[in-house]
Amino acid sequence: MPFGIHQALKVIVMKCRCGSKAVYERKTEGSFYCDDCLARQVEKRFQKTISENKLVKAGDTIAVALSGGKDSSALLYMLNNSKNPKTEIFAISIDEGIRGRGICLEKASCLTKKLGIRHFIFSFEEELGITIDSIKDRKTCTYCGVFKRNLINKKARELGANKIAVGHNLNDEAQSILLNFLRGDCNHFQRLGADPVKDKKFVHRIKPLRDIPEAEIVLYARIKKIPHINRRCIYSYDNQRRDILNMLDSLEKKYPGTIFQIVKFYDRIKPLVSKSDKVSIGYCDRCGEPGGKLCKSCQLLTELKKLS
Ligand code: FES
Ligand code: ZN
Repeated sequence: MPFGIHQALKVIVMKCRCGSKAVYERKTEGSFYCDDCLARQVEKRFQKTISENKLVKAGDTIAVALSGGKDSSALLYMLNNSKNPKTEIFAISIDEGIRGRGICLEKASCLTKKLGIRHFIFSFEEELGITIDSIKDRKTCTYCGVFKRNLINKKARELGANKIAVGHNLNDEAQSILLNFLRGDCNHFQRLGADPVKDKKFVHRIKPLRDIPEAEIVLYARIKKIPHINRRCIYSYDNQRRDILNMLDSLEKKYPGTIFQIVKFYDRIKPLVSKSDKVSIGYCDRCGEPGGKLCKSCQLLTELKKLS
């Protein structure tokens, strides 16, 4: 019997501790969970990451980077449900100019309306004069990631946020750790974690989902009926990130707990690899945003202009 079918049947016949039908096996613990118990477990981990890393405090204004996908949608939902009355939350979405992206933005709007949260949408076309679809280069996702990070940071700061919450889950975090390791990028490597960089122009980025596996977030979003869309970027087929993700997926299937161990290992060595608590990033001479003498976003925009 193929491995996948065997696993699915195992979950179907097993029961959760509460006696209800199991929908998920957390292999690292050997435990089975029903819908309700799994949702509670996910929320428990989310709260634990927040409190252990002191990610949120009363009086914060948090901009949630909302793509319309499962991770950022679940993040907005949980942050909103658990927020202190003195904490303000709003959402920022970016229209990168990718065909078919409209449906994700519609889901994002649907969720923010449902939760009664302010929602701001900015487009690359209006802000940077480019669309991702118009880039004829193999590094499309790299351009997109850099532009998106910079634009969200700038807009969140202008809108008065003191924190940006991003939906990186456990798998994303393990992937970023390995990616920076394989690229020998010590600078980015030491900036990972739940609570990475502190700088007056760089809005404090927090990752409350970084201890939750992707599979649990997929189920959580379904259990809570959170409007979202599950699709991968159409340009991500040919990049190093995708290869690392596929490798991690197969290692996790064969050796459950691998992804968790990579992230925990990083957390243990982080104090040894960080030069100081405050990583200095400098400001761009051209746009004034954080990121060195010529920030990555301005470097890539210059490259694109040369290519066109
Ligand atoms: Fe935006 Fe791939 S092009 S994530
Ligand atoms: Zn710049």
